[in-house]
Amino acid sequence: MDEKSLKLFLDFAEHLALQGGAVLEKYWGNFFIIEEKGECWDLVTEVDKESEDVILSLIRNKYPGHAILSEEAGLHAVKHAEFSWIIDPLDGTTNYTHQYPMVSVSIALTYRNKPIVGVVYNPILKEMFRAANGLGCSLNGKSICTSKVKSLERSLLATGFAYDRKKTEDNNYAEFCYMTNNSQGVRRGGSAALDLAYVAAGKLDGYWERGLKPWDIAAGIVLIEEAGGCVSSYEGTPLILETGRLLASNGIIHNDLLRSLKIARGVIA
Ligand code: IPD
Ligand code: CA
Ligand code: CA
Repeated sequence: MDEKSLKLFLDFAEHLALQGGAVLEKYWGNFFIIEEKGECWDLVTEVDKESEDVILSLIRNKYPGHAILSEEAGLHAVKHAEFSWIIDPLDGTTNYTHQYPMVSVSIALTYRNKPIVGVVYNPILKEMFRAANGLGCSLNGKSICTSKVKSLERSLLATGFAYDRKKTEDNNYAEFCYMTNNSQGVRRGGSAALDLAYVAAGKLDGYWERGLKPWDIAAGIVLIEEAGGCVSSYEGTPLILETGRLLASNGIIHNDLLRSLKIARGVIA
């Protein structure tokens, strides 16, 4: 794809993130309806839904031939569509309901199933992360790259715990303990899209999580790859958006992280 078309898509993705972000700002600190998706720790609010409505109608108007996958609305399939938008209208809903400001809007565009554009926006902290294939990665207009940290023991990491954590032994607790004991620290930010953006910006050196959905990670993957980092499965193989397990890093400590995950999971001694 030519650079001009990519830039147009990237600018449109930023526009979508800003419009969704305006909804997050509007309700921030005000009353809004909160529903539980079956469990009291898995929430959806009218803010998620309004942000999504705004974003989806903008995409449908401008690109009626593009498919859309969005967290609350699901899949909007379009026959023979090569482009697909992958949207999380509010990543960090639990944080949002507590006014903990790690929240974001995550917008990705894929071409033939490969993410080519990624935008992650935190409207509360006013941080706009943008990237597109071959065009680099930026934070609020300034070019960013992943960290230069060379060892796990000097790294700052992040992770998260999926909503099914109380129902499965594959709950990431063993991995969390191992990484905590072998790094400078592990943060649990509560917005996977922002965790990935922070790895891209070099504020974190690595991030892993299971139980993720395509809308949590599609945009962040583009950010990290364009910032010089590395994204893979827990096995080190190329990431498939739907598999849910992701390891991201500055690239330098990637092998150490892969090995650590295997030790923590009992795959190797
Ligand atoms: C969640 C956040 C969280 C991660 C969960 C996600 P949501 O997304 O990204 O950090 O740990 O796995 O589901 O529900 O706030 O959009
Ligand atoms: Ca999410
Ligand atoms: Ca969400």
